[in-house]
Amino acid sequence: MKIYKARDYDHLSQIAANIIAAQITLKPESVLGLATGGTPVGTYKELIKKHKSGDLCFSEVKSINLDEYCTLAPESPQSYAYFMNDNLFNHVNIKAENVNIPSGLNLDADAECKRYDEVIKKNPIDLQLLGLGPNGHIGFNEPDAELKLGTNHVSLAQATIDANKRYFEREEDVPKTAYTMGMGSIMHSRKVLLIASGEGKAEILYKALKGPLTTQVPASLLQLHRDLIVVGDEGSLKFLVR
Ligand code: F6R
Repeated sequence: MKIYKARDYDHLSQIAANIIAAQITLKPESVLGLATGGTPVGTYKELIKKHKSGDLCFSEVKSINLDEYCTLAPESPQSYAYFMNDNLFNHVNIKAENVNIPSGLNLDADAECKRYDEVIKKNPIDLQLLGLGPNGHIGFNEPDAELKLGTNHVSLAQATIDANKRYFEREEDVPKTAYTMGMGSIMHSRKVLLIASGEGKAEILYKALKGPLTTQVPASLLQLHRDLIVVGDEGSLKFLVR
């Protein structure tokens, strides 16, 4: 595991974007596993800057997103498909056919999970970008007695609903279930880049990286990954790096 300490959120975003850009430069046809949420927004901004200045080309890149809320259409501003278009895809030259996100509109959960696992199997992930949930979730793999290897249909934990309700008008509007890439697919990614910002993530980041391996902190399983890079800022790394 390599841990990089950034000065602040902007610096964290620059370091994370540099790592992703290096991946694309070395392998232009890279498969990127991508995350949504607040943390990667700055990273995506930096990637857009690199693209606009002519330093980074996404024409052969494929993307596979971690998760999507059930029932939300891609046009819904709260959907993760919309988030990705708005924060990255609409601003770079990635091809629409190379973008993969679970379909929140497919209510046949078995079929959708199977379809997504086929996508991942055909396109092994070179670099998986992850944020860290307040309860230690990665993707929407929530703390539980057991975790799933493949794509699964999850009930969102209350901590996740609490953290994400800021994006919705009312808490009742937050979908209660989602599709998420499974732990097996995340662990099989060749490289994992975990980003965490702010003191609010310090305790859970410490548990994830130094605590016992437990399904109650899904991110703790990342300790077993052979190529894990963590980029945090002063706040999130306060118990880990001085
Ligand atoms: C998002 C995702 C989630 C978030 C996590 C942290 O696609 O899978 O695991 O990465 O909830 O979210 P933020 O960055 O908003 O703190």
